[in-house]
Amino acid sequence: MQSKDDIRDWDSIASAYSQKIEACGDRCFPEIRDRFWTTLGDIGGKTVLDLGCGQGWLTKELTNRGAVAIGVDGSGSLIERARSQFPELTFLVADLAEGLPDLDIKFDTIISHMVVMDIPEIKTLFNAVSQALQPGGEFFFTLPHPCFFQQKSHQDVSGQWFKKVTNYLTPEVWRIDSFGGHNHYHRTIEEYVSALSQVGLLVSHFHEPPHESKSKRIDPEFLKTFPVFLMVGARKTAEPELGAYADKPRRSG
Ligand SMILES: C[S@@+](CC[C@H](N)C(=O)[O-])C[C@H]1O[C@@H](n2cnc3c(N)ncnc32)[C@H](O)[C@@H]1O
Repeated sequence: MQSKDDIRDWDSIASAYSQKIEACGDRCFPEIRDRFWTTLGDIGGKTVLDLGCGQGWLTKELTNRGAVAIGVDGSGSLIERARSQFPELTFLVADLAEGLPDLDIKFDTIISHMVVMDIPEIKTLFNAVSQALQPGGEFFFTLPHPCFFQQKSHQDVSGQWFKKVTNYLTPEVWRIDSFGGHNHYHRTIEEYVSALSQVGLLVSHFHEPPHESKSKRIDPEFLKTFPVFLMVGARKTAEPELGAYADKPRRSG
């Protein structure tokens, strides 16, 4: 299964990835941080699941804000690191491509920061997320913006900057070199939104922050006119509707 190979990649880059996070923090989070926390609101006393928690820094932040948070990741090496960094917290190993581990609770909030694009198939995961949420609970996930991430900037002879966007509608697997290499499954925003709605998760938040770059080569003011990250929130609708949506497109009319 593809996700097993992906998890093996994450196991082998776990040490480099953790060292980078622990030395410099997560490089994506600053662009969405403010909106992320305001959108989550007061999480004091809430049950929160952190999917693809890596070495656990965000599970710890959620806990610091009063949540009862659990972190889950497929990489045994990253979970080992999380447990040694934050021994007071609960971390579990699970392949998210197969769903969620058996947990005897329904969550108020489920988050996933920079993970869904690393999962080869999202329907199983989104269905499991929906089942694990309380009615009215919310799922928030962040990802590199499917339209603009990895798309190169170009300058024409007049000095005008452009973003060259290619193959947006084509599902592709990209190899990302950072930390030693892992797969990124490019899919459209439509695919994400329809996978959510098929399991009774209706989009409640959509955030496209301006890219804050310190690039010396490309005009930072130009880069600010595109988002390279995306945050999506989706609310779970009433429980009885779920069976009707699972694995079927919704009927119109
Ligand atoms: C870019 S990292 C983000 C980690 C963490 N959320 C953070 O912000 O540091 C992607 C994470 O997804 C996890 N991952 C990738 N594929 C997975 C899978 N099939 N099941 C569970 N976790 C997976 C990796 O182990 C890694 O921790």
